[in-house]
Amino acid sequence: MAKQSGDKRKAKHSRNSLQTRAIHAGEERRRYADSITTPIIQTSTFTFRDSSHIEDFTKKGKEHFEYGRYGNPTAQIAERRLADLEGAEDCVVFTSGMSAITTTILTLVRSGDHIVITDDSYKKTLEFCRAYLKQFGVSCTIVPFGGYERLEKAIRKNTRFIFSESPTNPYLNIFDLIKIKKIAQKHNVLTLIDSTFATPLNQRPLEFGMDLVLQSCTKYLAGHNDILAGAVLGRSELVEKIRNLHKSMGGLIDPHCCYLLLRGLKTFPLRVAKQNETALAVAKFLENHKDIRKVYYPFLPSHPHYDIAKKQMQGGGGVVTFDIKGTLNSAKRFLDALKLCYIGPSFGGVETLITHPALVSYYDYSRKERYELGITDTLFRLAVGIEDAEDIIADLNRALQKSK
Ligand SMILES: Cc1ncc(COP(=O)(O)O)c(C=O)c1O
Repeated sequence: MAKQSGDKRKAKHSRNSLQTRAIHAGEERRRYADSITTPIIQTSTFTFRDSSHIEDFTKKGKEHFEYGRYGNPTAQIAERRLADLEGAEDCVVFTSGMSAITTTILTLVRSGDHIVITDDSYKKTLEFCRAYLKQFGVSCTIVPFGGYERLEKAIRKNTRFIFSESPTNPYLNIFDLIKIKKIAQKHNVLTLIDSTFATPLNQRPLEFGMDLVLQSCTKYLAGHNDILAGAVLGRSELVEKIRNLHKSMGGLIDPHCCYLLLRGLKTFPLRVAKQNETALAVAKFLENHKDIRKVYYPFLPSHPHYDIAKKQMQGGGGVVTFDIKGTLNSAKRFLDALKLCYIGPSFGGVETLITHPALVSYYDYSRKERYELGITDTLFRLAVGIEDAEDIIADLNRALQKSK
């Protein structure tokens, strides 16, 4: 098949800082029409100048964009920038994080294969592996997060990969990347890690030897709660296979969305650095508050995985999980009293969001089932935005007083 622009490229990353690369990487210095912003190439098809241009493409393998489902220049710049930031050879962008995850998994497995996934991976990833892979003859073992021996024992001759996430939702558990790499190497299986909660500012899974990194760019990377996007990043040889399946599956991200992703990426290191600081300040405030039962934040020494987090992460991220004292009614009073934090799912955007898993994601579970999963009546997940920490803390403090 003729080579589409974007195929078989090995990224050469500059030595500039992450913040500088977030603005410039993946794009020619000489801009189209000298525009400082990236053009949105809103087209479904690309033209050939003449017959020799066609033959340069088909016979001589010269790069050219041909048709929108096979690649688009605005998307290519987003892919190159993301690859640079993650330190990856290559990247494919998708319409959502879930599209990146499912297309990646479907590329890697064949009927008769087996995969291992940790139990507090994102709900829809687990559902896909547990319920849908079966239809293709692929079996899946779900192992408890942190049970490294159980994980190793779960590996069989036909295991293709270990899939995990770090940090995880809602308890922000941290997966020991060094341990997992050792296990994977011993058994010759691939390692896939969903690093959405960390971003390339806080965690660099490829440097720990992970084979593929998955990102929901919907969160911190785009960062403005205004688009859905996803990415897979890693070695060219693996990413290229995923790109090929993506071209057949056909759910391509549109160029305007890529533009918004690129715009968000320009400020992502600044935003995430601020979110790291704010979340740590909020976590410390909550930990010392008399109306709080427990706080979960990976950069608090009280977190069970604090040591691993400090070893493999540069910052704890913008999500803080906490359990307030009282009952389900106290939790409702707390939510209703918030004036700054918006009640809503997701994280990583500029606006602070709070969710109450018992009322939202687990509303259809019985109380007993929820408690078995650690989802209490009074558990909250706060995703700080880029408002000032004092304002967020004041809002939480006022609402805690009203919760009683
Ligand atoms: C850790 C994690 N991975 C993947 C996803 C899926 O991303 P998207 O909503 O962009 O499909 C989410 C969504 O919340 C998530 O939290």
